Amino acid sequence: MSEQKLNLTLKIWRQKNAKEAGNFVIYKVSDISTDMSFLEMIDVLNEQLINKGEDPIAFDHDCREGICGMCSMYINGRAHGPWKGTTTCQLHMRAFQNGETIVIEPWRAKGFPVVKDLVVDRSGFDRIIAAGGFVSVNTGNAKDANNIPVPKADADDAFAAAACIGCGACVASCKNSSAMLFVSAKVSQLALLPQGKVEATERVLNMVKQMDEEGFGNCTNTGSCEVECPKEISLENIARMNREYMMATLKKGIA
Ligand code: SF4
Ligand code: FES
Repeated sequence: MSEQKLNLTLKIWRQKNAKEAGNFVIYKVSDISTDMSFLEMIDVLNEQLINKGEDPIAFDHDCREGICGMCSMYINGRAHGPWKGTTTCQLHMRAFQNGETIVIEPWRAKGFPVVKDLVVDRSGFDRIIAAGGFVSVNTGNAKDANNIPVPKADADDAFAAAACIGCGACVASCKNSSAMLFVSAKVSQLALLPQGKVEATERVLNMVKQMDEEGFGNCTNTGSCEVECPKEISLENIARMNREYMMATLKKGIA
């Protein structure tokens, strides 16, 4: 598709800090190339705001390559916008029409309090990962790849689960603000591999406990997390984590 220029109205959530109430503010941007990424379009707006002496829009971003999971925002009512399997930084302006109004909001979930504008505090995810602890591996020379045989299907499932970038779209899309898809991906990527089995019991118990303490809600199987996940993490991981959790409680006699 050849490049076109867009004139757009942006309705963006502005909030000074976690304590003050926020509100939507309307901005206009013009001559936006359809070849630009969504974040480059916000960069253009921010340059305009800075030139006028106004406070630029605060938003999280880092890699801009769909890897880091930082570019979390709601675009027209959808986590990461309209393209399936795509992070905000990989979303291009050709997804929008000339003259369109685009509504941009932060994640809204108890476990992700707003820091400023579109930036939310996702450190709850870091604490869940930390609660998972370490993996016992011997350091030293790399072992021959065939020393520990892993069935191909398990390796594929572990790899797919490891694609989770911790963006939080699953939480933001869920009516219960459940973090089950994220936590189950992190549990699965290790539980499926022999190297992850040593601490598997403690890991799943501690991660689920931390998830609950962070204020994330329960899973009621609506499946919205899987639909909106930019890395298309499968709901099968949640079923796997539930099995891991049940086995762990039986082992520990706390069922
Ligand atoms: S499961 Fe998907 S939506 Fe949730 S944090 Fe991981 S990549 Fe993001
Ligand atoms: S900025 Fe890193 S995934 Fe979007």
